[in-house]
Amino acid sequence: MESSDLALQGLMLFLLLFLMGQANVYTRAGEKRWSGEGTNPHLESIFLGRCNEYISVVNPELSKKNCSAIWEAFESVVHKDPCSVLPSDYDLFINLSRHSIPRDKSLFWENNYNLVTAYADNTRRLIPVTDMLYGRVGDLINWCRQENGSGFDYHSCPTVEDCENNAVDSFWKRASSQYAHDSSGVIHVMLNGSEPSGAYPVEGFFADYEIPNFQKDKVTQFEIWVMHEIGGPYLESCGEGSVKILERRLKNMEFKYECINDYRPVKLLKCLDYTAHADCIFNLAAESTQQRFPSLFGGKWDPSLLFFLFLALASEIQL
Ligand SMILES: *[C@@H]1O[C@H](CO)[C@@H](O)[C@H](O)[C@H]1NC(C)=O
Ligand SMILES: *[C@@H]1O[C@H](CO)[C@@H](O)[C@H](O)[C@H]1NC(C)=O
Ligand SMILES: *[C@@H]1O[C@H](CO)[C@@H](O)[C@H](O)[C@H]1NC(C)=O
Ligand SMILES: *[C@@H]1O[C@H](CO)[C@@H](O)[C@H](O)[C@H]1NC(C)=O
Repeated sequence: MESSDLALQGLMLFLLLFLMGQANVYTRAGEKRWSGEGTNPHLESIFLGRCNEYISVVNPELSKKNCSAIWEAFESVVHKDPCSVLPSDYDLFINLSRHSIPRDKSLFWENNYNLVTAYADNTRRLIPVTDMLYGRVGDLINWCRQENGSGFDYHSCPTVEDCENNAVDSFWKRASSQYAHDSSGVIHVMLNGSEPSGAYPVEGFFADYEIPNFQKDKVTQFEIWVMHEIGGPYLESCGEGSVKILERRLKNMEFKYECINDYRPVKLLKCLDYTAHADCIFNLAAESTQQRFPSLFGGKWDPSLLFFLFLALASEIQL
């Protein structure tokens, strides 16, 4: 093959790829109107499934609630223009799905979704807003109406960068205000001390929609937990940076509060994923001789057991 043929083929290939690239950009621009993810497929099934599971399995005291009516109230909001949804548009939805929170069970948070979910344990330990019926149905999903149509937009939905009054943000504003309003007793707050933008976002759902809605006479005190990633970074702790701003704000509002760095029970849970890390070795010798020695020859051989056997023998000799 001559080199000019090769050059021509190369040029054609280049043109082809160039055109394909253009076409790709064109379809994407045509489909993706907004910067957020689109409505989840099966939105109605997810919503009704979560709602019915909640009222019949998670909290059967709510079995009188009507999930179809709750869905209708929710869906009617989505018939509005995707950038004109107000928190108050969810009033009927909240009225139908609302239920009380046991005293001392509330858990507020920022930048800690996975840890909060794991620690709350599906309402067994604490009940964050995503474990209330009205929060559960919207957890981790997106929805919005098409800009000029009547159905859901499955390609993209507006985020706060596109417009403030989008369907999802207004939903969480309404749900968060209700949740704070109905909370009582000890209020737990989990913050992330490894978050570069600050553990307490001075503008956020907690700062803007929850703190202003606490009922002074129902709250006994705040307990703030500043959690860090295992091994750090330790960017902010109690009394520092944005945590200090929060502490000052609560103090000015005359709430009692306590701030705890790396609250032990939550840290233990975090350590499940870092069992060998130096920050996660708690009284290893004392715990392991009691708990692991009896199974020494029962299960699969683990070389680290030799270490525990040695410790056990050493402590025997000392006695
Ligand atoms: C539940 O709500 C739906 C929709 O509003 C309604 O058709 C149905 O009759 C209600 N069911 C009960 C048991 O009230
Ligand atoms: C819902 O609204 C009705 C009528 O305004 C009111 O009587 C009822 O208490 C509300 N229910 C809840 C759970 O807020
Ligand atoms: C805490 O923030 C860091 C930094 O943004 C992040 O990598 C980490 O996943 C967050 N922790 C949790 C539990 O979300
Ligand atoms: C919706 O209609 C408006 C006004 O006619 C127009 O500017 C906009 O581009 C349309 N949007 C879509 C996604 O078709």
